[in-house]
Amino acid sequence: VSLLVRLGDRIGNALGARDPESASLADVEARVAVRLRATGLESLGPYLARLDDALSTELPHLAGAFTNGWTWFLRDQDAIDELAARMSPREGPVRVWVAGCATGEEAYSVIIAFLERGLDVEVVGSDVDAQRLQHAAEGVYGSSALRRVPEPLVQRYFERLSDGRFLVRPELRRRLELKVHNLLEPPLLPPLTPLCRAGWDAIVCRNVLIHLTADGARRVHENLLSARARHLVLGPADGIVTIVRPSTRPPVPPTRTAEVFRPRPSSPPPRPTPPDDWQALGRAIRAGAHVDAAARAEALTRSEAHVGPAWLVVGNLALHAHDLDRARAAYAAADRHLATSAELHFLWGTLHRRAGAWLEASRSLRRALLIDPDLWPAWFALAGAIERHAAPAEAEAARRETARAIERRERISWMSFVDDIEGLACPRELVRAACTRHDVTETNEDPRWRTR
Ligand SMILES: C[S@@+](CC[C@H](N)C(=O)[O-])C[C@H]1O[C@@H](n2cnc3c(N)ncnc32)[C@H](O)[C@@H]1O
Repeated sequence: VSLLVRLGDRIGNALGARDPESASLADVEARVAVRLRATGLESLGPYLARLDDALSTELPHLAGAFTNGWTWFLRDQDAIDELAARMSPREGPVRVWVAGCATGEEAYSVIIAFLERGLDVEVVGSDVDAQRLQHAAEGVYGSSALRRVPEPLVQRYFERLSDGRFLVRPELRRRLELKVHNLLEPPLLPPLTPLCRAGWDAIVCRNVLIHLTADGARRVHENLLSARARHLVLGPADGIVTIVRPSTRPPVPPTRTAEVFRPRPSSPPPRPTPPDDWQALGRAIRAGAHVDAAARAEALTRSEAHVGPAWLVVGNLALHAHDLDRARAAYAAADRHLATSAELHFLWGTLHRRAGAWLEASRSLRRALLIDPDLWPAWFALAGAIERHAAPAEAEAARRETARAIERRERISWMSFVDDIEGLACPRELVRAACTRHDVTETNEDPRWRTR
């Protein structure tokens, strides 16, 4: 048994699984027996000894015993319907990655939602467990998996088999490609262009993070953000609170915003409904009373309702005062609460620019733009950062994107008073003029702008 516990620890670690110890002993033993036969090893001891070297090949055979694969067709389908509704018809298929697709029901449900709207779609379904993917490939399901599927859709997309089960029709099957993939590894990437214009149209990763440790969920989430998707759909229980404090269930009930993480234009968490303290903070900032404002913001970091935005404000004021260490610590604290906020990544980009870390700055700004492609200050800052470490043509392209994004987004609702703190984001008209004249760029020395 102690060897099996060690095996659970190893596999759990490799997956970021939260409770590997809750695996069924019988299931683990059965899977191990198959692997011993396949590898020609006689017992678990030598198998464990070889596991580190063979982890990537062994993991897909064992992962299912240590993870929950519960799923069904049209599970929380509202979010997927909303995703499909946001896609406009275009040339070529919409490309969706369903990450952690288990036995395939969710991936096929995504295809159904898009086909129902007359949209061409191609889905890559991935999971770390090979057995579940095999089931998805076969596409045969019992009636309980289809319990939420209305009869007309059953008739359109499934063939009834003589044994009472259902086979997905070829129209669904041929649109699904299946891949073994551990979400702790670098993400599956579609072809890239320098300015993240191409990429997944959407990543759907639901009911996976909730089963991971804090660190596992954070790493997977970071990976998904770096995968260049226009939409990231998480499950109702996979919200950032889960990533931050996985040992507790999210204190807020699941909401639509938590399900469909689509950042434009209302995606930044709204500026918190201002109680007096928050309004007083805003007034202090606008009056230029930064010392008072910093003290107020610090105090608000201890209030549950404002903790994330308050840390951002602390960071912004520190940045304004050129205290980069303080700003870094404050943004790191904000990270724990606002990991999916474009504003946070934009501010990280601003901090890295001030530190002269141009590559880091580009990365943070691109991350902000993945979340919110219309955040024009991030495009503009990206142009400035790219200029320092990459080809001028790329900087020029970023400037063109700035001009486009500025037309798309009239107002930005910052939650941390970015536009009230000098030097954090340049006024819209100035940026617009800069991008059309091509003669203004950012400078590291002066938080304002200089003319070349
Ligand atoms: C509860 S199922 C969710 C299925 C489907 N997404 C849904 O919402 O109905 C979770 C799936 O995540 C997979 N999974 C867990 N950890 C993973 C990891 N590190 N990498 C890839 N897949 C993982 C499991 O194998 C399992 O099939």
